[in-house]
Amino acid sequence: MITTTDLTKVYRSRGREVTALDGVDLHVREGEVYGVVGRSGAGKSTLIRCVNLLERPSSGTVTVAGQDLTALAGRGQRANAALRQARSRIGMVFQHFNLLSSRTVRDNIELPLEILGVSGKERTRKALELLDLVGLSAQAKAYPAQLSGGQKQRVGIARALAGDPKVLLSDEATSALDPETTRSILQLLRDLNRQLGLTVLLITHEMDVVKTICDSAALMKGGRVVESGTVSELLATPGSELAAELFPVGGEPSGPDRTVVDVTFHGEAATQPVISQLSRTYNIDISILGAAMDTVAGKQVGRMRIELPGRFEENVVPIGFLREQGLQVEVAAVADAVDSDGLQEAAGLAKDGAQ
Ligand SMILES: Nc1ncnc2c1ncn2[C@@H]1O[C@H](COP(=O)(O)OP(=O)(O)OP(=O)(O)O)[C@@H](O)[C@H]1O
Ligand SMILES: [Mg+2]
Repeated sequence: MITTTDLTKVYRSRGREVTALDGVDLHVREGEVYGVVGRSGAGKSTLIRCVNLLERPSSGTVTVAGQDLTALAGRGQRANAALRQARSRIGMVFQHFNLLSSRTVRDNIELPLEILGVSGKERTRKALELLDLVGLSAQAKAYPAQLSGGQKQRVGIARALAGDPKVLLSDEATSALDPETTRSILQLLRDLNRQLGLTVLLITHEMDVVKTICDSAALMKGGRVVESGTVSELLATPGSELAAELFPVGGEPSGPDRTVVDVTFHGEAATQPVISQLSRTYNIDISILGAAMDTVAGKQVGRMRIELPGRFEENVVPIGFLREQGLQVEVAAVADAVDSDGLQEAAGLAKDGAQ
């Protein structure tokens, strides 16, 4: 639905150059919620502003719903009209809502329709329909100053939907909201994604946001996408920084002669009660030291740190059992002083080895 190819953006100001985007290839599938995370200055806002051509990329292409927007930008009047038209199919939600304080809620939502030249009657019909959709019918005549932050953001979302977009872009839409309001806005975005088949590209610095509503995510650093994929794919990638931040596990061995392993659950294997099977099959007591699990579509996804009695070499078979179930297993710590890397290699269980 959204594809960027080798997208770069270089800002030039007062003789200085800042490379905000450095060859970004992003692929957002139709109907998914896609999260972009990264530190301040990583280029997230620049990326999203380039996707709807609010910012002109220095090079590379942006395709939204099969249309190459970069080919339209700045190529004469007809192309500009086509770009405006294409942009009206991309909604944008902002951190600070950007509502006009002198206009009522309804008039704020009508604004983009006015710009598109929609008739007064039709504008009002549409605005009232959208207010209903975001649960704000009672506030149609209120002014922004009379609304809570969460309500303002609902107006922002309704306004973004005025042009019947296929794609919604959101730059930190919940950063100015408290945790409970954040949850309700995320739920609204999820509902809209499902009900309207809306593709959502959102930027956030909160891993919780990704965990709550995103199907896929990308991590940006220094203007580049350094990791990307569905949450399952990320979990399946050994050493994934995003997976570790989404599903952090901690926990230290409880004593000597213990083996600590991190088990990653994703895909089909995650439907089986493997830990109890392991315990029964080998008659061993297993302690769970830490876990970050979620249930997605009836399957468990996430990571768990477990402790097995005995040293590593005594646990080669149970660890092999877990791998046979299709789980990813990494030996996190061996309590005694043996050279665990050497042992793992010898047993074909190298840390970064596949399942
Ligand atoms: N208009 C501009 N002119 C010059 N440099 C800019 C401009 N906009 C952004 N930059 C620079 O580009 C880089 C990326 O900025 P960007 O706003 O995309 O980061 P971000 O990931 O959204 O950060 P944050 O999490 O703080 O919002 C930064 O180094 C920033 O200073
Ligand atoms: Mg930003």
